[in-house]
Amino acid sequence: MFRLPPEPYRIKMIEPIHLLPEPERRRRLAEAGYNTFLLRSVDVYIDLLTDSGTNAMSDAQWGALMVGDEAYAGSRSFERLQDSVRDIYGFPFLVPTHQGRGAEHLLSKAWIKPGQAVAGNMYFTTTRAHIELAGGVFHDVIVDEAHDARSAGSFKGNVDLAKLTALIDRLGAKAMAYVAVGAPVNMAGGQPVSLANLRAVSELCRKHGIRLVLDGARAVENAHMIVTREEACKGWSVARALKEMCALVDAITVSAKKDAYVNIGGFLATRDQALYDEAANLCVLFEGLHTYGGMAGRDLEALAVGIREMVQDEWIAHRVAQVEYLGRRLDDLGVPVVKPYGGHAVFVDANAFLPHLSQDELPSQSLAAWIYAATGVRAMERGIVSAGRGEDGENHRPSLELVRLTLPRRAYTQTHLDYVAEGIGALHKKRAELPGLRFTYEPSRLRFFQSRFAPSQAKVAA
Ligand code: F0G
Repeated sequence: MFRLPPEPYRIKMIEPIHLLPEPERRRRLAEAGYNTFLLRSVDVYIDLLTDSGTNAMSDAQWGALMVGDEAYAGSRSFERLQDSVRDIYGFPFLVPTHQGRGAEHLLSKAWIKPGQAVAGNMYFTTTRAHIELAGGVFHDVIVDEAHDARSAGSFKGNVDLAKLTALIDRLGAKAMAYVAVGAPVNMAGGQPVSLANLRAVSELCRKHGIRLVLDGARAVENAHMIVTREEACKGWSVARALKEMCALVDAITVSAKKDAYVNIGGFLATRDQALYDEAANLCVLFEGLHTYGGMAGRDLEALAVGIREMVQDEWIAHRVAQVEYLGRRLDDLGVPVVKPYGGHAVFVDANAFLPHLSQDELPSQSLAAWIYAATGVRAMERGIVSAGRGEDGENHRPSLELVRLTLPRRAYTQTHLDYVAEGIGALHKKRAELPGLRFTYEPSRLRFFQSRFAPSQAKVAA
């Protein structure tokens, strides 16, 4: 039997949460246009929408807030953050940003010429949007098994080297702005990239003179999975695996709201002086001066501490074990989930949960809505709605239709996880009654955040 290790922390401060009665939840869901992003937080019992900015900070982080240096320029807090980034990630140059997409914006603007290609291992929503905004064209070069919710590979986030080679041969290296590797791959169910694969991508890029970027939003989780799954790295510390990953790339974009246990923040870090100069200059335009980049001095401090905490082996091991515990409980109850389990979330396979719905009936969106109605738990759609439309106005049609149950770090207990699993297990028994949804409002950019929906059939069950 899989046992969740006891939490390596105790609770010093609590935040009350409340479960609304079911009829009330249904009313709030309809008011929110059946979009879990539009629910009010007070109407949610257990919030598994995201692990982004929803983490509990440590006493050391709260203490650090008090010594924030709020100077406009040259803040001491910036220097402390720079020391943490140099020590833990190993990049000499740092440009702080208000969050991850701020770093993506600066990188895309600095490195993409209109018409150039960017290759990556499956898209992420904001990353692809910024690539396209800068005039780039995204090409997916992830291994095929990433698109299969049922395949069992340990590193389903890997880049397919044959696909990447074929793309470079077809377009020519000059047409490639850079290669962007996400590790792990959020949209594929949090699947990791092996160090061997990243090394091979790095060698291929170097051979062709193409720059390589790591999307390090959850790189520590990837490092943990390298240490536990990759034979050549057995016995390594997570800190060592993270350093090795970073040593293989020219730059990293980081949403600090994930690994680093803070509620806001991000950065671009690099070993490339020219990229630093350009990004620091763009930062002044879009984020703030290059020594605060849209963050308060106190937030730079909390991040500087969080970066040192995030590579503590015991903590990251517990975080990933919580995800596995939830996954196993759902699996035992017959709920179809993506395997192997990722590091930040359990992904429910909405195609398998609701096989009677076509993709146009928005299975993931529907399932996320009915999970809230049945349990008060908030989850996130990661399917056709998140994938958006292409240049031609047609829907992208991802093969994966997933609902993400994302675990904030250090926030929920095993009892909460049991409640979630049992509630979704009970809903699964009634799955044949669950209707689909259709759009009633669709904004033009990143539509999953603000779209509204209505049930596609008269019957609203759950
Ligand atoms: N890259 C990845 C892989 C992400 O998961 C995210 C954010 C970003 C970049 C952008 O960072 O939000 O700080 O601007 N993911 C959040 C999520 C929103 O819920 O998965 P950001």
